[in-house]
Amino acid sequence: MELKDVIYKRQSVRKFKTDDLPNEDIRKMLDAARVAPSGKNMQNWHFVVIKNKGLIGKIAEAVANKNEEIARRMDPVDKEKADRFRKFAKHFTLFFADAPVLTVVMTQTYIPSGYREYELVGADRSLLDDLLGHRNPGMQSLGAAIENLYLRAVDMGYGCCWLTSANYAAAAIEELVRTQAGFAEEGYYMGALIALGVPEGELKSPGRKTLDEIYTLVE
Ligand SMILES: Cc1cc2nc3c(=O)[nH]c(=O)nc-3n(C[C@H](O)[C@H](O)[C@H](O)COP(=O)(O)O)c2cc1C
Repeated sequence: MELKDVIYKRQSVRKFKTDDLPNEDIRKMLDAARVAPSGKNMQNWHFVVIKNKGLIGKIAEAVANKNEEIARRMDPVDKEKADRFRKFAKHFTLFFADAPVLTVVMTQTYIPSGYREYELVGADRSLLDDLLGHRNPGMQSLGAAIENLYLRAVDMGYGCCWLTSANYAAAAIEELVRTQAGFAEEGYYMGALIALGVPEGELKSPGRKTLDEIYTLVE
């Protein structure tokens, strides 16, 4: 497929056929992620690719437990918001349970240029937080890698959904990744999940801003 066709064809996929994915195809997607650009060429990513149904189920259970824990805490404060959260969580954080492949994207903190220098001269905490929090080059790099993987998947006839809504369950997922998937690298934490497989059924995507809304051209 032409790159432009892949870009415009890409949609989030939340329902998958049960078909298994050949490891060779998965490796091609990971190789696309591998060559993504990253700040200082840090390549701050490790993809834990899980095809094991039992482990995917355990991760889904960890997310479901966290969803309910949050909703229960919300119940006495605002029952309506709690139920709205339950509905959201059901639709947008758990569908990966039926995906043939779930990838836990592990990442490392990237220290932005200027951060250590500001730290050395005792700069205000807000300046440091601004560099690390608002602009976060590490996460920008991770996004580039995930998008490369995603587009390569679409190019090969697969579909994905990128998930960060379940990040509040990251600690439990990281524990599973370390104890059951054997990922032992120090200094990594979960950045996102990717559900992957052959798309099933019609895809629906929300609309977009118009082109004129998203740019300012200065000539
Ligand atoms: C960083 C990021 C996080 C996302 N997290 C979730 C998520 O947790 N659950 C979900 O169902 N979709 C998630 N999505 C998918 C978006 O909802 C989707 O990309 C957006 O609504 C546009 O739809 P489309 O991808 O079909 O074009 C995420 C996408 C991105 C880029």
